[in-house]
Amino acid sequence: MQRKVAVITGSSSGIGAATAKLFAANGFDVVVNYSRDPAPAEEVARACREHGGRALVAKANVALDADCRALAAAVENEFGRADALVNNAGTTKFVPPADLEGLSGQDFHDIYAVNVVGAFQMVRALAPLMKKHPVAAIVNVSSVAAVMGNGSSIAYMASKGALNAMTVGLARSLAPAIRVNAVGPGMVETPWMQKGLGADLEARRQSYRAVTPLQATIEPDDVAQACYFLCTGARKTTGEFMLVDSGYARLPALGR
Ligand SMILES: NC(=O)c1ccc[n+]([C@@H]2O[C@H](COP(=O)([O-])OP(=O)(O)OC[C@H]3O[C@@H](n4cnc5c(N)ncnc54)[C@H](OP(=O)(O)O)[C@@H]3O)[C@@H](O)[C@H]2O)c1
Repeated sequence: MQRKVAVITGSSSGIGAATAKLFAANGFDVVVNYSRDPAPAEEVARACREHGGRALVAKANVALDADCRALAAAVENEFGRADALVNNAGTTKFVPPADLEGLSGQDFHDIYAVNVVGAFQMVRALAPLMKKHPVAAIVNVSSVAAVMGNGSSIAYMASKGALNAMTVGLARSLAPAIRVNAVGPGMVETPWMQKGLGADLEARRQSYRAVTPLQATIEPDDVAQACYFLCTGARKTTGEFMLVDSGYARLPALGR
């Protein structure tokens, strides 16, 4: 039987890398995507191949439609199918929410170009191939920030809210051949947070643990497990938003 194929954008680091490895460990061939540095992508691909399947390393900036279409063409040439797409590539600018002057209109455009338009362009480019083997599945990596309003910046929160709305719209327009869902991670232990928070990281980590019922920040593999479930197990679920946040959004504080 032909192996299934998963395309994970932004999979040279963090959540995307964990997701690529999880799909590979479960018998998928995978596409490892990055936009800047090939070395960590090659390392993730090497780890994926240890599970016996193929891993294609593909440079593509999802903000560029030509890159998305070239990536889709490479997937078709290499594998001839695409069963799962995880739109994980994302960007932000860390600006305290009260600092309205700290965000320019261009910041919004730059963040939306990757987090919203990039995800759309990947779906548009890959959907024709995905429809050849229904039921395929797409997961958009959103954020708890979309519903809590306290992420890295107002522009970032807005972009993830837009991604959630787009998830519902795409779930309608791609049904029944492709299911489309989103995950909403809380504070995940990746280089993203280390780079963004710097010296504040440990204090923010402790405060996240203090206010969540599960008393835990999120590991990249926790998010990968949710993406994998939504792609392979949730056969009658589409247009859904699944939080992976230790209960941060729905069950805050618990009196602590
Ligand atoms: N960390 C958190 O606490 C957290 C919480 C909620 C949601 N998220 C979401 O989770 C996703 C992944 O975050 P992470 O924490 O795993 O980040 P990360 O460790 O910084 O990894 C980001 C990945 O995305 C790639 N990338 C960035 N811009 C890209 C672009 N334009 N085109 C293609 N690839 C691109 C990066 O590779 P290159 O640098 O080589 O491009 C890298 O592989 C993001 O969508 C983020 O919004 C994260």
